[in-house]
Amino acid sequence: MKLKLVQLESKYSFEMGKLQNHLFNDYKINWLDQVTSTMNIVDSKIRSNCLDEIVVANYQTDGQGRFKRKWHSPLGKDLLLSIPMKLNLNQLSKLPILISLSICKVIVRFLGSEKSVKIKWPNDIFVRGKKISGLVIRATKKKSRVNANIGIGINVNSSMRDFLKIDSPATSLLNEIKKNSDRQKILYELIRQISYHFNQPYANCFTEWKKFLWMPKNKILLKNVDHNQFNEIECLPIGVDDDGLLIVQTSDGKNLKLTSEEVTFQY
Ligand code: BTN
Repeated sequence: MKLKLVQLESKYSFEMGKLQNHLFNDYKINWLDQVTSTMNIVDSKIRSNCLDEIVVANYQTDGQGRFKRKWHSPLGKDLLLSIPMKLNLNQLSKLPILISLSICKVIVRFLGSEKSVKIKWPNDIFVRGKKISGLVIRATKKKSRVNANIGIGINVNSSMRDFLKIDSPATSLLNEIKKNSDRQKILYELIRQISYHFNQPYANCFTEWKKFLWMPKNKILLKNVDHNQFNEIECLPIGVDDDGLLIVQTSDGKNLKLTSEEVTFQY
């Protein structure tokens, strides 16, 4: 099914609000039934220089998370999509913050409350301590420009039974608000939030993002991936820098700044 953003706008803007800029106006939305992964489709479109199609799938046979993890989602219940974007290097460093903040705001809007919504560094979205959404970004450099493939999974109408296969605590909008939500409406709101945040001063977005950030209070174990070897380091998270890099203190008192690619958490 091919959709146009204007169709979504005319259907949902009365309730959700209008799109506030033209960031995605030239995009098409390609809503497919079954794919290996929306990431694969957008990767191959990017290779053929086609960066104007958001790919959504009802089902993925090989849903991909960060660090080669799998992303499982039952048929037709959740929102699974990849968005291609042409960016400069400066925009790329801000992308995880802008996108995770946008997802947070979507969740808040549909939950009707922001109390229990948190970002677990770097960009997993949690509600009441359970993961509701994940984000993976793949970027390919082309001189000073970057092509980004932004993969987003939001648990919308999955039931708790659907999470039995998943080994970490997960939740969905259905589980939180006890009613099904319209995935097209959530998609519209997500596109609206992303376009809005791209148009705002970054400092404002960053301040807002920090309010949602959940920092572990105890020491954490980082798995530092160094030439495919995992070195475990114990350290204390002490904050984030302006680009959202995690600042940690090691046991010998050194401060390190870590990107999400360098570490995987166990806490
Ligand atoms: C994570 O939490 O590790 C990131 C999960 C990202 C999952 C989404 S679902 C849509 C898109 N297609 C994929 O294969 N992965 C992303």
